[in-house]
Amino acid sequence: MKAHDYLGGTVFLNGRFVSAKRATVSVFDRGLLYGDGLFETMRAYRGKVFALTEHLARLDRSGQVLGLSLPHRDWRATIEELLQRNHLGAEDAWIRLNLTRGTAAPDVLPPKDSKPTVFALVKPVGSGLSPVQRLGARVTLLNYSRNAFMPEHKSLNYLPTILGKSAAASRGAYEGLFVRDRRYLMEGTTSSIFLVRGAQLQTPPAKGILPGVTRRIITHLAESEGMRVVEKDTSIRTLLIANEAFLTSSVAEVVPITQLDEKPIATGRPGPLTKLFQRKYRAYARGAARRGSAV
Ligand SMILES: Cc1ncc(COP(=O)(O)O)c(C=O)c1O
Repeated sequence: MKAHDYLGGTVFLNGRFVSAKRATVSVFDRGLLYGDGLFETMRAYRGKVFALTEHLARLDRSGQVLGLSLPHRDWRATIEELLQRNHLGAEDAWIRLNLTRGTAAPDVLPPKDSKPTVFALVKPVGSGLSPVQRLGARVTLLNYSRNAFMPEHKSLNYLPTILGKSAAASRGAYEGLFVRDRRYLMEGTTSSIFLVRGAQLQTPPAKGILPGVTRRIITHLAESEGMRVVEKDTSIRTLLIANEAFLTSSVAEVVPITQLDEKPIATGRPGPLTKLFQRKYRAYARGAARRGSAV
């Protein structure tokens, strides 16, 4: 795919559609100075945003903790108009909705009355299965987790993720897995993790990780297939002996894990249940996006 000309399009910024080249925020914005804000990354299928209600609910839950709220508006209509303005009205796309505490005098203590900065960005994603979805991904272990502080919130403090992605890339891996107590898998830097063990799915408990929207939908799809989904502490060893394993996220959907560093997981190829979930998730997401329904 050709590199996306991210400055050539339109963004939504504080209530208006603005040319990306001219869209700027203040150097006093608290999102920039302190990472004081939240975001959501979503996916659109054929120009329609998927699981918007769930993403807004997660943003709202975190907003209540931080004392931040997303201004009211018809976000579905706004995002879909943004997609159209970027010629993505019939395409699959990545969507990022960003909320910061806004511009204020530079003190760490948040002001009582700042006006939030809100913006949305979009870019195209291929609508076919990506190479990593088809062929599977190599992952690597990171010797830390996001467990330390507010891991349940998708805050703008993404340094653990950036360092983790960089470490993974330097080892030739697609994703880094955060590890707690040198033993337990938590989540990927931008994904949740599932193992297939016999007739069950296993995933680490929600405590200490981001409550992934995709994780919840996969759990729902598995249970509606009559499969049990067990949330339990998941050791590195369990990954090595799993029948299959996969990562989930809104944009990457379901990505098979085929290797942990040099070690193959099971056959070293995407497993049948993983492929089944890839298909089911895609069909479900496309249908729900088209209907504009909550999931
Ligand atoms: C740390 C982390 N875990 C999990 C996920 C997957 O979340 P979702 O399924 O809501 O996209 C993400 C997404 O970026 C993430 O950053």
